[in-house]
Amino acid sequence: MRTDALLSQYGYCTRREAALWLKAGRIRKADGTPIRRAAEHVQPDEVTVDGAPVEFPHGLYVALHKPVGYTCSHREEGLLVYDLLPPRWLRRSKGINTIGRLDKETSGLLLITDDGQFLHALTAPGKKVEKVYHFTTSAPIPAEAAELFAAGTLTLNGESSPCLPARLETEGPCAGRLTLHEGRYHQVRRMLAAVGAPVLTLHRLTIGPLSLEELQLAPGEWAPVDPTLFA
Ligand code: URA
Repeated sequence: MRTDALLSQYGYCTRREAALWLKAGRIRKADGTPIRRAAEHVQPDEVTVDGAPVEFPHGLYVALHKPVGYTCSHREEGLLVYDLLPPRWLRRSKGINTIGRLDKETSGLLLITDDGQFLHALTAPGKKVEKVYHFTTSAPIPAEAAELFAAGTLTLNGESSPCLPARLETEGPCAGRLTLHEGRYHQVRRMLAAVGAPVLTLHRLTIGPLSLEELQLAPGEWAPVDPTLFA
């Protein structure tokens, strides 16, 4: 593709600004040769901008440690998870989206991509990617909850099919971990409310093979991820 089109499609600058960037020698081939002509055809992975390779030349795949108080939306008022990412990513011609959502009051691991197929593959009902949540509750978790969740017989209010079997591991009377293989609306909160233990805090620890602990991300931090981990 043309160099000016590449710079614009990957969110660096407008095609008009590209002419100035090229003139200033900011755009180079990997071997350091400056690219001077806007019309020069290049591949995204053979270009550097200000000395750094073009970001995510073949699709953007990122893990974010979502803090409490941020919304997974492009449109709502207030703090949005996209505010935590470099603004350039939002200017890329392929839009970025979260893979599933975490509630505003939930923290933890969230994936973001511009790859619609990848997003669909991870959220399709048949995919059943495992997700582990840590929670605290405002009332003790009843002893029979683990068996009920594991049986796959709990049908949430307003739903026609029961939740898939889920693993509950308690860590004291009002805290624990819940492992799910699906992602219904407010699922963890609704499952725990259904057994009389409303959620106080909720945090997602893992999605499939990815864990926040291993990624070592502080709240608000992000890191690139390898999408083939989910193949
Ligand atoms: N379940 C919930 O209730 N909320 C989330 O954010 C994620 C799972």
